[in-house]
Amino acid sequence: MSGAGTNLQALLDASRDPSYGAEIVAVGADRTGIEGLTRAEAAGVDTFALRVADFPDRAGWDMALADAVEAYKPDLVVMAGFMKLAGDAFLARFGGRCVNTHPALLPAFPGMHGPRDALDHGVKFTGCTLFVVDAGVDTGPIVDQRAVPVLAGDDEHSLHERIKVAERAMLVDAVGRMAREGWTVTGRKITIP
Ligand code: GAR
Repeated sequence: MSGAGTNLQALLDASRDPSYGAEIVAVGADRTGIEGLTRAEAAGVDTFALRVADFPDRAGWDMALADAVEAYKPDLVVMAGFMKLAGDAFLARFGGRCVNTHPALLPAFPGMHGPRDALDHGVKFTGCTLFVVDAGVDTGPIVDQRAVPVLAGDDEHSLHERIKVAERAMLVDAVGRMAREGWTVTGRKITIP
């Protein structure tokens, strides 16, 4: 994660109930001193932070990230507000079991500014997407989506906040189903039994 961590908080809250089916074994970030790490620590979850600037190159950071995640033996890796692309080493180990959430209805408006780009384009509905991470920018197979209206008078902040309400619900619902029931990836199709 890179930022406020409200999606993380939603998962931390959900996972307090054993019947949710997913336990959060660790929270990693690409920077220190962020709200998301504080949220994880408050919940008693292990944390780690690996900054790209502390490695000679991006591939070294990616390898270290893969090692740090692997140490916790996760069944599923959830990127939530993680603003970096996964590299080859990470995908080689976690491909097919790493999901990311994006604040737009992919394949529309990928990248760093989903809400702003949707607003600028003038769409009447946008939303959020949970997808399986692949080597592209927000291009992987889609697990779940929720639609959100764009309202008259919206600015980037108000629209993003409305999307994030739907996004947190989507994330908690989909991650719980994946944890409880498993999933298969066949081409672009995700099946949760
Ligand atoms: C979320 O809306 C997430 O989809 C977005 O950052 C926000 C993080 O919120 N991620 C991206 O735009 C990735 N390209 P949070 O820190 O409160 O969970």
